[in-house]
Parts: sequence; structure tokens; C-alpha cells
Amino acid sequence: MDNRRGGFPSGTDHGKPPHLFGVGESPLDNPYFETCGNFVIVEKDVQWGADCKVGHFVVLKSGTRMGSRIWMADYVCTTGPCWIGDDVNIRTGAIISRGTFIEPGVFIGPGVITNHTKHVLSVKGKDEGLRTVIQAGAVIGSGAKLVAGVTIGPNVIIGAGAVVTRDLLKEGIYVGNPARRLK
Ligand SMILES: CC(C)(COP(=O)(O)OP(=O)(O)OC[C@H]1O[C@@H](n2cnc3c(N)ncnc32)[C@H](O)[C@@H]1OP(=O)(O)O)[C@@H](O)C(=O)NCCC(=O)NCCS
Repeated sequence: MDNRRGGFPSGTDHGKPPHLFGVGESPLDNPYFETCGNFVIVEKDVQWGADCKVGHFVVLKSGTRMGSRIWMADYVCTTGPCWIGDDVNIRTGAIISRGTFIEPGVFIGPGVITNHTKHVLSVKGKDEGLRTVIQAGAVIGSGAKLVAGVTIGPNVIIGAGAVVTRDLLKEGIYVGNPARRLK
């Protein structure tokens, strides 16, 4: 299957049943968040599993699917439907765009941005449904940018500030703009 396109992975266990609540309700009411900061906005149709930690000023847009034991620091936001697997660590200020699939055990450094469209002004039909995939155990260094539609392979390390423009599947360390294999 071309994993750049299509819906959410099926059969994923998101832990406990979703607890939905809207803007203005306190995420602290959610029994499944272990800790939760202030000014967290969770739109309708957001799901998460057990024991997630969420910092201050986090925005989770509609369609965000989170597994269990996710640690999300301050100022993280999602921009629409995306999937974040178990034990994912997302540091301060990262932006997880819609269409992003993060497999379990991934580390996302501070200020990382995943893109949803490849073209700045989305080309209808061409950019629709692009999927950006970060496979299990990958580490994305601070400030790295992932252009829409790329796949980062399992346990791959992306250096700080890299711009990923194509699939990087082979295990190793990649740096620069465009990101190239360092070792
Ligand atoms: C990519 C990284 C893992 C490489 O670490 P390393 O294996 O110890 O590599 P080195 O420091 O030995 O550097 C090797 C070469 O790559 C270059 N390099 C290292 N990191 C780079 C980066 N992010 N972008 C561009 N070049 C980089 C170095 O300048 C050096 O080049 P040279 O041989 O011409 O002097 C590391 O530099 C990095 O970027 N880590 C991410 C840190 C981060 O984001 N942490 C989040 C904390 S919350």
C-alpha cells in the first residue's frame, strides 16, 4: 500500500474509549490525562489513550488520534486529523500537521514542523491526502522540517534544522537542507 495516502491505520488500539470535550472544558476532568497544563484547547473528535502528559498552551485539533503514554510539552499543536502512536515524546512548540502519522516510540524535538501540503498554495487534487509518516523509534532533531508526503524510516535520526524533502528509509543520521545521510 502506498502509505502516503489514505485513511488512518486500522486496528489501532487508542487505549481507553475517547473522552470528548470541547473548548472551555478542562482537560483536567479527563481521567486519562496523567497531567495537563493550563490553556489547553481540545476540539471535538480528539481521542487519546491512558497516561498522557500535556503541557501548557497545547492545541489539539479535531481528528487528532493519540495513543497512550504520550508526552507533549508546552505549545505543541496539531492542525487536524493526525495519528500519534504510543510512547511518543513531542517537545516544545512542535507543529504536527494534519495527515501526519507518528509511530510508537518516536521523539519529536522542539520546534519541529511537519507539513500537510507540499505546495504553499495547495494544488487541489495533487496535495490532497498526502501523508507524512514517521516510523517507529525515529528521532527528529529540533527545528527540523518535514515536507508533506515524506516517510522517515524506523530509528532514523534527523539532525537539528534539517529539511526533509524525500523519503529517508535507511537507518542512519541525516542532516542539512535538503537532508542527506551523514552516517
Ligand atoms: C545530527 C546529530 C545527531 C549528529 O551528531 P554527531 O553524530 O555527534 O555528529 P558530529 O557532531 O560528530 O558532526 C559530524 C558532522 O556533521 C555536522 N552536523 C552535525 N549536526 C548537524 C546538523 N544538525 N546539521 C548540519 N550538519 C550537522 C557537523 O558539523 C560535522 O561536520 P564536519 O565533519 O564537517 O565537521 C546532532 O548534531 C544533532 O543535530 N542532534 C539533534 C539535537 C536535538 O535536536 N536535540 C533535541 C533536544 S530536546
